[in-house]
Amino acid sequence: VTSAGPSPVLRLWPDAGPVPDVAALVAAEARPAPPDRPWVVVTMVTSLDGATAVDGVSGPLGGAADQAVFSALRAVADVVVAGAGTVRAEGYGPPRTPAARRSERLARGQTEAPRIAVVTRSLDLDWSAPLFTDAHPGAGPLVLTCTDADATGRARAGEVAEVIAAGAAEVDLAAALRELRARGSTVVLAEGGPRLNGALLAADLVDEWCLTVAPALVGGGSSRAVVGPEQVRHLRLDRVLEGDGALLLRYLRRG
Ligand SMILES: NC(=O)c1ccc[n+]([C@@H]2O[C@H](COP(=O)([O-])OP(=O)(O)OC[C@H]3O[C@@H](n4cnc5c(N)ncnc54)[C@H](OP(=O)(O)O)[C@@H]3O)[C@@H](O)[C@H]2O)c1
Repeated sequence: VTSAGPSPVLRLWPDAGPVPDVAALVAAEARPAPPDRPWVVVTMVTSLDGATAVDGVSGPLGGAADQAVFSALRAVADVVVAGAGTVRAEGYGPPRTPAARRSERLARGQTEAPRIAVVTRSLDLDWSAPLFTDAHPGAGPLVLTCTDADATGRARAGEVAEVIAAGAAEVDLAAALRELRARGSTVVLAEGGPRLNGALLAADLVDEWCLTVAPALVGGGSSRAVVGPEQVRHLRLDRVLEGDGALLLRYLRRG
């Protein structure tokens, strides 16, 4: 007998049981913004041996359960933040919201889809790509850059995106997040990659770490989920889901 549709997602911890609606579970989780910046969720998928990419992209690591949690996190985010390296490698398009989630977002006072915010100093991005030209109405793209970035590039970015320059030689992520909060954002979903994660960790801006451990061994030389200076931050486990053999872990800032 073959069953229709994806395998069920189960909650393993703190209590065990089926999760009939992953989006509802994720939406019900508390994400209280500090007064001066949004709550920051980082989401990553790795293999069992810590690989973050296969052939330079993360897609082969994610299964149906990872996609369900990823989509659920996007559905609660005001802004999706991504490093320019990830945008270039993954050919990012504008975030879309499934029809079923749009009314929930509007009821929460959010835009129908989250805004994308690309972190870049080089401004080496394809400004004619749909990411910048085909945003969801009311959810135009942002570019988070720094004041040392090339002025011509900043002007070009400003033609297709709202540009926030925070910091001099590199983006001051705390200051950029303050700007997002000033624009009404209370939940930011940071989608990597590892070097952006390193900058977030260095600035102690990670409130929530959502890690999918994919049931695969990969080898190779892809980065760990965080690349940057050594920083030890102890987190606390909030919940564990399982789907298709993947573990979907939610860790929170302690204290
Ligand atoms: N497994 C997963 O869940 C996952 C998730 C995301 C990405 N990935 C993979 O990770 C790889 C890309 O990651 P990556 O670490 O190379 O790149 P990344 O973190 O996505 O982007 C790094 C770039 O972001 C900009 N940036 C980040 N922090 C900055 C700061 N504080 N100030 C100024 N600019 C800053 C710079 O852009 P400029 O170079 O434009 O100045 C930098 O080169 C890809 O292979 C992708 O598939 C995997």
